[in-house]
Amino acid sequence: MFGLSLVVALLLSVPTFAQVTNANLLPGTWSTGSGAVLTGPGFCTPENTTFNYPQNTGVSVSFTTDGYYELARYRFKSNATKHKCITGVLNWHHGTYVVDQTADSITLNPFGDGYQQIQNVCEAVTNFIENYNQTEFYPLYQIFQDPTDGYKLHLFDSTGAPYAPMFYKSATPIMNPTKSLRNISSPVGTGSVKVQKRNAGDTTYSPASAGLTVLALIVTLAGGVAGPLFL
Ligand SMILES: *[C@@H]1O[C@H](CO)[C@@H](O)[C@H](O)[C@H]1NC(C)=O
Ligand SMILES: *[C@@H]1O[C@H](CO)[C@@H](O)[C@H](O)[C@H]1NC(C)=O
Ligand SMILES: *[C@@H]1O[C@H](CO)[C@@H](O)[C@H](O)[C@H]1NC(C)=O
Ligand SMILES: *[C@@H]1O[C@H](CO)[C@@H](O)[C@H](O)[C@H]1NC(C)=O
Repeated sequence: MFGLSLVVALLLSVPTFAQVTNANLLPGTWSTGSGAVLTGPGFCTPENTTFNYPQNTGVSVSFTTDGYYELARYRFKSNATKHKCITGVLNWHHGTYVVDQTADSITLNPFGDGYQQIQNVCEAVTNFIENYNQTEFYPLYQIFQDPTDGYKLHLFDSTGAPYAPMFYKSATPIMNPTKSLRNISSPVGTGSVKVQKRNAGDTTYSPASAGLTVLALIVTLAGGVAGPLFL
């Protein structure tokens, strides 16, 4: 009896998400959670290779109707052996994007002027900024419409796992100018090359591959309230 009413209560409380995946819905600005991280000049100043620290972690992506994107991330990565040794990563890049409308995949091709800042609270040596020029491939995206939150964008990684969903924040994309904004003195290639050091240190970091770690952490913290899969 109790079990049945619990199931009924759960069913009633599950919002109905209508999947409306359609590339025409991508243009605009999307952001996770409360929207603490938004693309555009509020997040960083490319000409000076600097960031403005957001109030909270998150990820934001913007798309234009004519093929340009911008991406902003502020993440913490926990250390499995030393739990206090959290690494913070601020990451920014922009360029052009391609949607494969058969596979519903998205490829982000950066201009080459992206950069990221890495900070590890336990290691005095890790606080530096490096160039970032990695093509990011998301093999699947889905857009859902929910009666309360409106459109939600889900990006998936190569294992089929979802990143934290992003909510539709602005129909007009909030973006820096869609052209290269920094002069890179030497080629970045496709990887990450350090450009400024606050201290000595030579760690490099790939936030794209660290996404799952961070998502898992968020899910663990919020699991009791928000459910296991989509926050
Ligand atoms: C970039 O740095 C220069 C020199 O510190 C400063 O004058 C300028 O205002 C900065 N630009 C922005 C957009 O903050
Ligand atoms: C965890 O922290 C220790 C000590 O700072 C460091 O040696 C190790 O590389 C860190 N591990 C990861 C995965 O960052
Ligand atoms: C890059 O350098 C060229 C030539 O020195 C200059 O014309 C251009 O304005 C610079 N671009 C940026 C974004 O600083
Ligand atoms: C960025 O990577 C692309 C290949 O993905 C390459 O064509 C381009 O030259 C790179 N840009 C820089 C500044 O190294």
